[in-house]
Amino acid sequence: MSDRKVGIWLYQNGGGDLIEKKLVVKLAERGIEAVTGLNLRHAYVANGSIYCLDSKGEEQKMEELDLFFSYNAGEQTQYQMYLYEALDRIIPCINNYHSFALTEDKFQTDYLLRNHGVDTPDFRLCHRDDSDRLHSFIDEWKQMVYKPTDGWGGVGLTKIDSPEALDMLMPFLNQMDIRYFYVEKFIDYDKTDYRIDIVDGEFVSCYGRKAGGSDWRTNVTSGGSVFVREADDEVIDLAKRAVKVTGLEIAGVDIIYDRSKEKYLVLEVNGIPAFATPEQEKMGLDFNDKKIDMIVDMIDKKTSKKDN
Ligand SMILES: Nc1ncnc2c1ncn2[C@@H]1O[C@H](COP(=O)(O)OP(=O)(O)OP(=O)(O)O)[C@@H](O)[C@H]1O
Ligand SMILES: [Mg+2]
Repeated sequence: MSDRKVGIWLYQNGGGDLIEKKLVVKLAERGIEAVTGLNLRHAYVANGSIYCLDSKGEEQKMEELDLFFSYNAGEQTQYQMYLYEALDRIIPCINNYHSFALTEDKFQTDYLLRNHGVDTPDFRLCHRDDSDRLHSFIDEWKQMVYKPTDGWGGVGLTKIDSPEALDMLMPFLNQMDIRYFYVEKFIDYDKTDYRIDIVDGEFVSCYGRKAGGSDWRTNVTSGGSVFVREADDEVIDLAKRAVKVTGLEIAGVDIIYDRSKEKYLVLEVNGIPAFATPEQEKMGLDFNDKKIDMIVDMIDKKTSKKDN
């Protein structure tokens, strides 16, 4: 008998469909029914109710769920985010909307992390009309990275290694519909990073990525590859502190080692860190079951009715 009902929207590619099946079974073992395929992209709202079709084609009133688990980076739309924001005020959502929205923006996240004593690459933000200031940054740093604040997969990242390179880039930046420029100092690192997964404040797993060929980016979409990597306490502690500041229930923290400063830096906190794909599992990334168990524990905890 299930006394609780949770909604799930999880990516289906890269083995996500198998993860979802395991999740549903493990939730059922705890007496929690799972409704899957709840893509808010296709939902509509009538007064106080968001109506969304599930994977069986049945309509679900989202407010009747005890919790909504949203985990699909690739298919996210603005409309979906808009409804996610509204729903989060009514039922518990994982991740909670505010933390998720925060970590979708690199500047907002880094600014908050810095104000809580978490080391990140040095960064600057200025108005788009303030190109003189942008030039002063490259004069000071010699090398920097221009980043769209809402980018992913390494897309739009541009390394700038001279004032001339910045001059060449300016016409392209000016064409874009943005209000501000966000740049980071280019970090001297060994072209490898750590990805630390955290669920409910606890360490799940660590793996590494290394950049492919001559690329300076470790993203798999930029030719990078993953490898099995141990994390020491310093790296894990840094990741936990970063996640705590963001408030994310589930997170993947990207960390690199700055060889000049001789310390670890948080590059990024991701709100939808992917599970290991079937290919990555074959390479030894064996954390999926542990991560599923930790997520199930957390959902169980967050939905347990106080009057039971
Ligand atoms: N300041 C920096 N100095 C040197 N290398 C960097 C710097 N910032 C990023 N990189 C490299 O570029 C890669 C991509 O950067 P970042 O994670 O900020 O953007 P993204 O991957 O596009 O965003 P997301 O992870 O949200 O998809 C990093 O994994 C790292 O290898
Ligand atoms: Mg990244």
